Amino acid sequence: MENKSKQIAVLTSGGDAPGMNAAIRAVVRTGIDKGWSVCGVRHGYAGLIDGDFVGLGARSVGGIIQQGGTILGSSRCPEFKTEEGRLKAVNNLRHQGIDALVVIGGGGSQTGAYELSRLDYPVVGVASTIDNDLYGTDISIGVDTALNIALEAIDRLKTTASAHHRAFVVEVMGRDCGYLALMAGIAGGAEFVVIPEMETDPETVARRLRFDYRKGKAHALVVVAEGANYNAQRLHQYFLEHKERLGFELRVTIIGHVQRGGAPSAFDRLLATRLAATATECLARGESGVMVGLINGRTATTPLAEIATGKKELDLSLLDLARSLNK
Ligand code: ADP
Ligand code: F6P
Repeated sequence: MENKSKQIAVLTSGGDAPGMNAAIRAVVRTGIDKGWSVCGVRHGYAGLIDGDFVGLGARSVGGIIQQGGTILGSSRCPEFKTEEGRLKAVNNLRHQGIDALVVIGGGGSQTGAYELSRLDYPVVGVASTIDNDLYGTDISIGVDTALNIALEAIDRLKTTASAHHRAFVVEVMGRDCGYLALMAGIAGGAEFVVIPEMETDPETVARRLRFDYRKGKAHALVVVAEGANYNAQRLHQYFLEHKERLGFELRVTIIGHVQRGGAPSAFDRLLATRLAATATECLARGESGVMVGLINGRTATTPLAEIATGKKELDLSLLDLARSLNK
C-alpha cells in the first residue's frame, strides 16, 4: 500500500486469544503514527460481510492492553468460506474506502486472509491462536498465557491429588495440536502426556500409572490434549469400565475455555505489539499477502499461500524429554 492510501481496517477472527487487544491497539496506534486513519471490523469476517465497521482512534484503544478477549469481537463465519461471501466482504471494504486489512487470527483466519489476497485485496495477517499450530511462526499470540493458565490448574490439582494418593487426567485445548498438552506436561511435571501426534491406548496409560504408584509416588497426573483419540472423557470411561481389573480410577478435569480468558501475560502483550506493529510496517512499504510471525526471536513475514498450505510440525523429541523426566 502506498502512503497516499490512508485508511486501513483491522479484525479479529476465529478463537479469541489473550493478547488480541494488544495487537488491535498496536495496529491502531502505529497506523495513526503513519498518518493513516484506522477502523475496526466487528465480529471478524461476519462483520466484513455485513459491513460492520467502527472508527478507531488512539483513545478508543486506551486501557485494553491488559484485557483478554477482543474489543472488536470474533466469530466463526461459514459464509466467508464461500466465494460469494468474500466478494461481499471486498465490496464493503472498497465501498468504505479502506485500502488494506489486518487479520489477527489463527490458521483458519489466515486461510481466509489468503483467499482475500487472491481477490487482489491487500491484506496482512498477524499470528494469533492459543493452539500454536500456525505455520510461519514459532509462537502465536495467546499461547504463553494459555499455557500458564493450564499450568496453574495442574499445580493446584497436584496438591489435592497428593493429599489423597489419586490419579488425575487434565485435558487442555489445542484443537488437533498437542503443543499445549506437551508443554504443560513438561512444565507441570506430569507423569504422562497424551497427544494426537503420538496416539496412546488406555492400557499403556494404566500400566505407567500403576508403575509410578508402586514406586511410591503420592499422585499421578496425566495431561491429555483435547484432540487425542483417547481424550479425557474416553480415558475416564475406559478406566471406569475396567475399574476392578485396573485397581484405580481416574478423576477428570477439563480446563477448556478458561485457557482463552483473562489477562494476557507480559510475553503475549509484547508479542502482540511487535507482530501488529510489523504488520503496519509491511503495509507502509507496500508488502501484503503475508502473515507476520515470530521466527528465531525476530518478527518475520511468510506468504499467506504458504501459511494456508504449510503444516507446523510438533517437535516430538520433547515427548521423549517428558518421558525421561518421569522417574
Ligand atoms: P482460527 O482462525 O482460530 O483457526 P477458524 O478455523 O474457526 O479459527 O477460522 C476462522 C474463520 O476463518 C472461519 O470461521 C472462516 O470464516 C474463515 N476461514 C477458515 N477457513 C477458511 C477457508 N478455507 N477459506 C476462507 N475462509 C476460511
Ligand atoms: O482454536 C482455539 C480453540 O480454543 C481450540 O483450542 C478449541 O478446539 C477451539 O478453539 C474451541 O472452539 P470454540 O470456542 O468455538 O468452542
